[in-house]
Amino acid sequence: MTEVLSTASAPGKAILLGEHAVVYGKPAIAIPVSELRVEVVIESFKCPAGDIWIDSPVIRMYKCVNDLPYENPLRMAVDLTLNACGHPDIPGLMIRINSALPIGGGMGSGAAVSCALIRALSDFVCPNTFTLETINGLVFDVEKIHHGNPSGVDNTVITYEKPIFFRRGESLESIQVKQPVNLVLADTGINSATSSMVAGVRKRFDQDTVRYNQIFTEIENLVAKSREALEQGNTPLLAEAMNENHRLLQQIEVSSFALDRLVKTARNSGADAAKLIGAGGGGNMIALCNPDTEKVVCQALNNAGAVRVFAFTLNSNKDSE
Ligand code: MEV
Repeated sequence: MTEVLSTASAPGKAILLGEHAVVYGKPAIAIPVSELRVEVVIESFKCPAGDIWIDSPVIRMYKCVNDLPYENPLRMAVDLTLNACGHPDIPGLMIRINSALPIGGGMGSGAAVSCALIRALSDFVCPNTFTLETINGLVFDVEKIHHGNPSGVDNTVITYEKPIFFRRGESLESIQVKQPVNLVLADTGINSATSSMVAGVRKRFDQDTVRYNQIFTEIENLVAKSREALEQGNTPLLAEAMNENHRLLQQIEVSSFALDRLVKTARNSGADAAKLIGAGGGGNMIALCNPDTEKVVCQALNNAGAVRVFAFTLNSNKDSE
């Protein structure tokens, strides 16, 4: 009989403003999407002691970890966790991974899988030893393999699961959201690898550094305005900044026909703002709505061919900490 030994989960994320610029030391605002999660269950498994199997239907994987290459992100998450736990003796284990997050969809699926896996495995192997900081550091180490030069924003917002103002190399700052914010995500259905999008921006940055630095400074100003807007409940200011951020993301060539089409659809159907989220090239966009416009915007995005439309609310957390 299999026995469930531990379970853990991690949320998806959306970058409200500042993606790409954040790789260059500018700040970004990121929020968790707690309704869309990765769930990990660790079970006992009839295999030699110390062996760990992975069953993940979303990535069509059913394999023993030892048969994966060392740099495979799942193997890395397992190895780093066991290492940090001091390699105690363990029985044969099965790690089951289920995810409601699109892969390559700009919602941090890779970081969320690592985070949930590291949590579940460490809870079983060395309970109560990992702090959030430890988990965040390990997820970041795995991210470095996925993405080459990640800023750290994805692992941080996913591990701490709260709205953050994030700047590379600095400790995170929580954002006190004054009023609920109605948001809609729509997926183009096109997968896009963060690593190649980030590498593309780097190439263009190297060719046109002055202009790219100007754009990143403009994004920095928008991020500062948006933080204020969220903390004061100023939706028009937030909307203006998000729309402007999308325009700047178009300038650095990370938007796409499909993303622009959904962004336009959302704005034309009543959203206050819309922009791509994450690395771009495909994946998801986000629309800023209100309770009166949300349904119509969702309908319009569905009609425009989005493969998934998901409405959620960024709740007020003012004075909740
Ligand atoms: C990806 O979710 C966000 C990027 O800014 C990359 C990064 O911050 O590492 C595109």
